[in-house]
Amino acid sequence: MSNLGANGYWDALADRERALRNRRIATLFEEDPRRFETFSAVFDDMLLDYSKEKIDAEGREALFRLAEAADLDGWREKMFDGELVNGTEKRAARHNILRANRPPLAGVADMREQFLEFAQDVRSGERLGCTGKQFTDIVNIGIGGSYLGPRLAVEALAPFADGPRIHFVANVDPYNFHKTVDGLDPSRTLFLTCSKSFTTQETSLNQKLAMDWATQRLGDQAIAKHFCAITARPDAARKLGIAPENIFQIWDWAGGRFSIWSSMGLCAAIRVGRRNFEEFLSGGADMDRHFMEAPAERNLPVLMALVGIWRRNIQNLPAYGIAAYESRLEAFPEYVQQLEMESNGKTVSRDGAHCGRDTAPIVFGGAGTNTQHSFFQKLHQGTDVVPMDFLVGVETTTPSEHAQKVLLANCLAQSKALMDGRDPERVMTELSEKAAAAGKKLNGEAKLAPHMVCPGDRPSTTLMYRKLDPRTLGRLIALYEHKIFTQAVIWRIECFDQYGVEIGKKLANDLLPTMEDERSWSDTDPSTRGLLTWRKKLKNGAARR
Ligand code: F6P
Repeated sequence: MSNLGANGYWDALADRERALRNRRIATLFEEDPRRFETFSAVFDDMLLDYSKEKIDAEGREALFRLAEAADLDGWREKMFDGELVNGTEKRAARHNILRANRPPLAGVADMREQFLEFAQDVRSGERLGCTGKQFTDIVNIGIGGSYLGPRLAVEALAPFADGPRIHFVANVDPYNFHKTVDGLDPSRTLFLTCSKSFTTQETSLNQKLAMDWATQRLGDQAIAKHFCAITARPDAARKLGIAPENIFQIWDWAGGRFSIWSSMGLCAAIRVGRRNFEEFLSGGADMDRHFMEAPAERNLPVLMALVGIWRRNIQNLPAYGIAAYESRLEAFPEYVQQLEMESNGKTVSRDGAHCGRDTAPIVFGGAGTNTQHSFFQKLHQGTDVVPMDFLVGVETTTPSEHAQKVLLANCLAQSKALMDGRDPERVMTELSEKAAAAGKKLNGEAKLAPHMVCPGDRPSTTLMYRKLDPRTLGRLIALYEHKIFTQAVIWRIECFDQYGVEIGKKLANDLLPTMEDERSWSDTDPSTRGLLTWRKKLKNGAARR
């Protein structure tokens, strides 16, 4: 390990960025014909191409030293050994053992067996509703990690699905619940209440709506047969009358946003079956091994993390986008958004002092090519530089091979266009050629030209894999998990708590009883008071359009 002082590693990186700032990414390619080989890495069928980032070998070396200095090896080992890497909550972060072939903790394998068997029983009709009918629809009630992971898995694995239909109720907006259950047959509907804490307001309310809906139609007998709970608080679920055999345990050492590998994935297991779900788990375990064993220069999560550090702290870029060229991964950016922003959206380091660096970037995105017609205009011509992660598969699960090629061509075209841009000379040449082809003279093109110029030199990373199957999905999710963990280690922040989310939760609970009690409004701020007053006017019909 080099012996640069605490800030020395960062200074070395900043120096390197200054040296590269006025050189274009395209020029780096011209200077090094092997740039693609040098700045890409492979894990099995997954290729990570970061050659279109504005980084060179010296910069990358400095990033490796930074990771070393932060003791990435030590922290990674601690996490996999089950040590208390969640310092504020004094817990381990053991989500990886949920996908391990032989989990090293008692009870984990048994619980996996229990929920997978239950899933099979629902699929086969071994488990029936209270009137003896087979379940055709499953409603997953949960929010945050108790929703985003299950939804992602269900959507991404759609071609592998042959079980009952899955629906999601997350938002406390009652529209969400009613829109979901309208049209469902209560005698064939099974509700899964997913809540690690079993105290989340949205989930508790939606669960109550569901119990009312089911019991009004089927009687009280519905509770024991039509409700399941996935929680770290089985006692709370039992108190609601949920049958003990329908309660699936999760543990406090698996954070909500890391819990898809546990019985939180029950709806996905019901939808795609045991074999596919186990493949998904194996994909996650593959990535664990790769993260543990591969040297930094070939380690996909480590490389992605370091590229992220380079973008965020060295190039000072506050956001990045994910464009998944795969409709089935439409939910992936939102999933990573929670994973990354909830884990690393922190300001203080592990010791409680200001961490002195910018941490989690803003994460956004969607499915390509749709995103090309929403936010890509800004990426190509806006005033901010916004780096992108492109995700794309090569094989399709449908027979439309040509459309798959078009999809891939679009993905490749976007990262190339971001890098190359379009300079004024090229714009004028194109306009002249167009005019000549139409047999016209140039007329006002010089005025139009600046609007068509794209600065280019905008960085991106592309992850290309063979096919989006259960194993690949597992690998993709674990890849981003480990990337985020690596960044937290480098920033020296707590990755596994989320105290920030709790302030809003608490205030909502505090505000609720005072909303109808006007006398208590004086305790709140003028804006909140003004909004409550306006609400009252609207409710009383005083303000009309
Ligand atoms: O959004 C905050 C959060 O605590 C997330 O971390 C979690 O995924 C979500 O709420 C739901 O929590 P629970 O599973 O306890 O209902």
